[in-house]
Amino acid sequence: MLTSRDVIVATNLPILDQGLFFAKTHPKRSYIVGAKIDPAKAPQGMYIGSGKKSHSIRTTPFDGGLLLLVGGEGHKVGTVTNTEEKYQSLENYARDRFGIDAFAYRWSTQDMVSVDRLPYIGKLTPFHHHTYVATGFSLWGMSKGTMAAMLLSDLILGKENPYAQLYDATRATPFLTPDLIKSGVEVASRWVGDRFQGLLSSSFAEVKEGEGKLLTIDNQKVAAYRDDEGTVHAVSAVCPHLACIVSWNSGEKSWDCPCHGSRFSCDGKVIQGPSVQDLEQVVT
Ligand code: FES
Repeated sequence: MLTSRDVIVATNLPILDQGLFFAKTHPKRSYIVGAKIDPAKAPQGMYIGSGKKSHSIRTTPFDGGLLLLVGGEGHKVGTVTNTEEKYQSLENYARDRFGIDAFAYRWSTQDMVSVDRLPYIGKLTPFHHHTYVATGFSLWGMSKGTMAAMLLSDLILGKENPYAQLYDATRATPFLTPDLIKSGVEVASRWVGDRFQGLLSSSFAEVKEGEGKLLTIDNQKVAAYRDDEGTVHAVSAVCPHLACIVSWNSGEKSWDCPCHGSRFSCDGKVIQGPSVQDLEQVVT
């Protein structure tokens, strides 16, 4: 057993449900592809897109040459099943503009976006004096994660930090912003709609190799994945966190929860919180 006076819960979204961080943020995924590029054709600088359909572009030194990185195609977790298309769309974009032939690398990321786009860094709740959180980095985790480490170490050591108030994790949250209302309505309608609307497929035979599908079997919502050897892995489609129905993510072969972003491997093992439990196994 480990004991400590001060604890920092830095699990992307805090796995402790106090503090309502799951209600003050929404989960978002984003993608990057990487390809070697002739330095003569490479963009001179780093470009960050803005707006709904934007791309970010930069290069980085790699293997004696340059690697072009193109990112974008972000979306709310669980709203896109064919995530493979997101990578293809980025590759097409890079192909058209930079004449790239082959893409060697792909990454995706997931992060919690806060209401005001500022991270929550500080005490878990006003009543916790030694439990701290850092979340809501809004896809800027490299810089905000570093900043959170500096700020939290000052808070624990009792040092003044001019940014403590700005990022205070217990700051008042305007729950009636259009974004938060929309997100709350989406979560509620997923929770209710998924439950009462039958999932269309009802037989494991309908799940193709390499594919995940939601089924209704004996009135139970089932998330079924058939691996390349033909074996079906069936688990409950109900997220153990707050009981939303998970969605299939084809690019990562994972089950992702649209409500607060928990993710599970294709055979139901939890790989990202706030859930700390696996999806329940279903006997096929
Ligand atoms: S992550 Fe909250 S219900 Fe799934």
